[in-house]
Amino acid sequence: MTESDRSSFGSRFGVIVAMVGSAVGLGNIWRFPYMVGENGGAAFILIYLAFSFLISLPVFCAEFVIGRRGRSNAVGAFRKLAPGSKWYLGGFLSIIAVFLILSFYSVVGGWGIKYLVDSVALKFSAGAAGTDFGASFAAFSTGKVAPLVYMLIFVLVTAAVVVLGVQKGIERFSKWMMPLLFVLILVLVVRSAFLPGAGAGYSYLFRPDFSKITSETLIAALGQSFFSMSLGMGAIIIYGSYVKRSDNILNHSLITVSLDTVFALLAACAIMPAVFSFGVQPNQGPGLVFVTLPYIFTNMPLGSLVAVFFFISLLLAAVSSAISLVEVMVSFLIEECRCSRKLAVGISIATQAIFGTLCSLSLMPDSPLKVGGLTLFDLFDKISSDYVLTIGALLIVLFVGWKIKKANFMDEMTSGGTIRIPKWIALVIFWIIKVVAPLAILTILIFS
Ligand code: PHE
Repeated sequence: MTESDRSSFGSRFGVIVAMVGSAVGLGNIWRFPYMVGENGGAAFILIYLAFSFLISLPVFCAEFVIGRRGRSNAVGAFRKLAPGSKWYLGGFLSIIAVFLILSFYSVVGGWGIKYLVDSVALKFSAGAAGTDFGASFAAFSTGKVAPLVYMLIFVLVTAAVVVLGVQKGIERFSKWMMPLLFVLILVLVVRSAFLPGAGAGYSYLFRPDFSKITSETLIAALGQSFFSMSLGMGAIIIYGSYVKRSDNILNHSLITVSLDTVFALLAACAIMPAVFSFGVQPNQGPGLVFVTLPYIFTNMPLGSLVAVFFFISLLLAAVSSAISLVEVMVSFLIEECRCSRKLAVGISIATQAIFGTLCSLSLMPDSPLKVGGLTLFDLFDKISSDYVLTIGALLIVLFVGWKIKKANFMDEMTSGGTIRIPKWIALVIFWIIKVVAPLAILTILIFS
């Protein structure tokens, strides 16, 4: 593919929308609250914030630089920027990450569809108050058939968007859902704030207990930050490769990282007060949000309506994130294996469906699909963020810091000197990429 036939985003706004669309998704609304709950609350959040701006933001810039300079998929970009070296092998890690993430992501996307259907069927109306939503979630998610059907619907919807191609599919799609989702989460934050006993939720969220921090907390926070910002597996390389040379990398990175953080924090502020108010276990894992939200909906005016719109916008956010995962695999298959776009999407659908099925079935009570006591679902969820993405991010910063070198990095950050950004900022980011981030990531990996 030459540079001119590589499709590119129609506008600068389109780029930002697509990147934020990739970043904001189930990672913010489903995974962040449950990670906060599993890792003891406020202390985890503080570490998460520090990592997001000190490490993830520079990693974001680094991945962006590789993408725009390499103008290719993850494997191809490494090959083009470091011809004759073995760096491109690192790109294959991204394909592993895509497999792992899409498997459980599609299952959770399916859960979202089921909850949308339930909202439309008025199962979260005021009349349903008193239902044990924990039990109903458990019954559904550990089932044999229903979760698979919903998962498949999610897979097919995502694939349909990818078949439509980059510009049309992604841009048009992502533009509308973000503001809607934002407003709806705000509504939930406000409702949660007035629930009886909400105060306990706030002290959990904002009063740090540093004795709860272990090396596990550190890797969980770092992995969550990479996961939430779509880093460490080539998604931003792909999106960066579609971006025009005149676009401001720092600006786009900062906007994406900041908005992603805001969404995650708001989701936690909507969920945690309700968790404490309704006596839900904060550390119960991946079901947390699905158990807690129905309690909020059934206890608010127009709850059914809010629920419908909430799950629609959540699903749009999930699909626009999943698209970027699928796109990593599809552009690899097209550019490295010379598949047609249709065939590439077909392969992606098949693998997603198969591994998604395994993940979902692993949640059944007597499922043999367990490794060392962890269900495949939990295993994929954990190792993809904690290890695959962190190692991927490590390779990315090492590559940009030591292989691409400073002059080329500065050239990309300033778009060949045409963009005026304070030089010291670009330098600080470069040194974080070259020295601080690799050391920090490596230390955390070793101690975990
Ligand atoms: N960032 C997405 C989310 O928060 C998930 C994702 C991870 C997307 C990695 C692409 C790459 O839901």
